[in-house]
Amino acid sequence: MEEENHTEKTNGEAVSESNVKYHTLEEIKLHNTSKDTWLIIHDKVYDITRFMEEHPGGEEVLLEQAGADATESFEDVGHSTDAREMLEQYLIGEVHMDDRKNQSAKDIFISTSGESSSWTTWVIPALATAVVGLMYRYYTLEHRSS
Ligand code: HEM
Repeated sequence: MEEENHTEKTNGEAVSESNVKYHTLEEIKLHNTSKDTWLIIHDKVYDITRFMEEHPGGEEVLLEQAGADATESFEDVGHSTDAREMLEQYLIGEVHMDDRKNQSAKDIFISTSGESSSWTTWVIPALATAVVGLMYRYYTLEHRSS
């Protein structure tokens, strides 16, 4: 059959940033019907029109999110890695930079420097040591004065 005609771009070039198509929220919002359904998941835009009927979780839930950001509901369900891999075939672009809620992707990389240990790792032993020290002092002083 002629079903197998998905366009696979396998030209040797690396998939560069310049190939990404950016869509504004305004544009995405328009694709909110069962015949034309776009979804945003993690700032990526998916055209899931042909997936609607196949979705194991049903068409309804997808329609509810159509034309909008479905990241939270997608993550809430705890979709499998299989489901995440399926996403790739519906990818049509990304949310326009100006329309992204969190522009902190860059900040995350900056803030994670070599120091990985959290303050809780030393505060608890330090407190425990202090308490034991105080108890010891209290105990020895009590005995000396009596
Ligand atoms: C294009 C995006 C999506 C894909 C590719 C996808 C794919 C899948 C797949 C493969 C499953 C089967 C279980 C698994 O493998 O995790 C599943 C289940 C499910 N999905 Fe999605 N899903 C998508 C979006 C969503 C969204 C946005 C919602 C919520 C509003 C949702 C709700 C559910 C629910 C409730 C189930 C569980 C069905 C059950 O276990 O009875 N899905 N989805």
